[in-house]
Amino acid sequence: MARRPKLPAPPVPSALQAPVPRPGENGKAAPADQAKNAGATVVDWVDERTSLSGGVRWALFRKVPKGTNWFYTLGSATMFAFLSQAVTGVFLAMYYRPDPSGGAYESIRHVTNEVFLGQFVRGMHKWGSSVMVILVFLHMGRTFFFGAYKYPRELNWVIGVVLLILTMTMSFTGYLLPFDQRAYWATVVGVNINGTGPLLGPYLSDFLRGGSEFGATTLSRFYAIHMLLVPGLLAALIGAHLYLVAKLGTTAPPWIRAEKPEELREAEA
Ligand code: HEM
Repeated sequence: MARRPKLPAPPVPSALQAPVPRPGENGKAAPADQAKNAGATVVDWVDERTSLSGGVRWALFRKVPKGTNWFYTLGSATMFAFLSQAVTGVFLAMYYRPDPSGGAYESIRHVTNEVFLGQFVRGMHKWGSSVMVILVFLHMGRTFFFGAYKYPRELNWVIGVVLLILTMTMSFTGYLLPFDQRAYWATVVGVNINGTGPLLGPYLSDFLRGGSEFGATTLSRFYAIHMLLVPGLLAALIGAHLYLVAKLGTTAPPWIRAEKPEELREAEA
């Protein structure tokens, strides 16, 4: 069978192509050209020392299947929600104290009522968590109904399942942190539900509580899981997920038929 022609290398964006400098005074480029070249010069300087441009072009210039539509933005929307959670979470962490004897509740009250824009940032984080959960489910639905879980993307589906569980873990562990009555009792119920799981259930609920009783260590445990363990895992797995998306490309919608190669069409005629 005839081999397909190799795709040409993706173009360098025109903004990064240095224009030929017109000589100004002292044989140097005219100041206007120097300013125009500045972007390309900085990129060249970094690239000469790191060779990053190959990787960046590999990640950004990809063949996109016909029929790609708005449903394909749900993954990026989920990622944006994650980034927003990370940024607002950092600001909340500047004020939060994981102290079960009143300090945690007081620190959240302080952020909400006294810190400049505190209520806004807390609101973004609180509503953003629901937005992320909704988006991750919609994105999973899109990949399922478009058959994007099939060969060769099974591994990306499996990574996605882990991302889904981690996203739910973020919501669950974050809910306890304000340490008010609602947070406390909702988490008691949630941990007990975990405990009813087969085989691993009791161990999981002991692990979450930090012992057999819901106590002082439970809050610091949830705090560490919410702020360190799960965000780190999420960031790493989103990286792996996106690497596979860039490597394998996205799936065409199921109603788009593959075009037949020229030779096959001729053979059939
Ligand atoms: C934190 C959560 C997640 C983020 C940030 C994320 C991000 C992305 C992005 C940006 C894409 C490429 C564009 C697109 O198709 O939307 C993608 C593709 C994909 N994702 Fe996710 N994703 C997440 C969770 C999930 C979940 C829960 C599943 C399924 C269980 C999943 C399965 C897939 C699959 C199979 C593809 C390939 C799509 C295709 O080839 O058309 N992802 N993801």
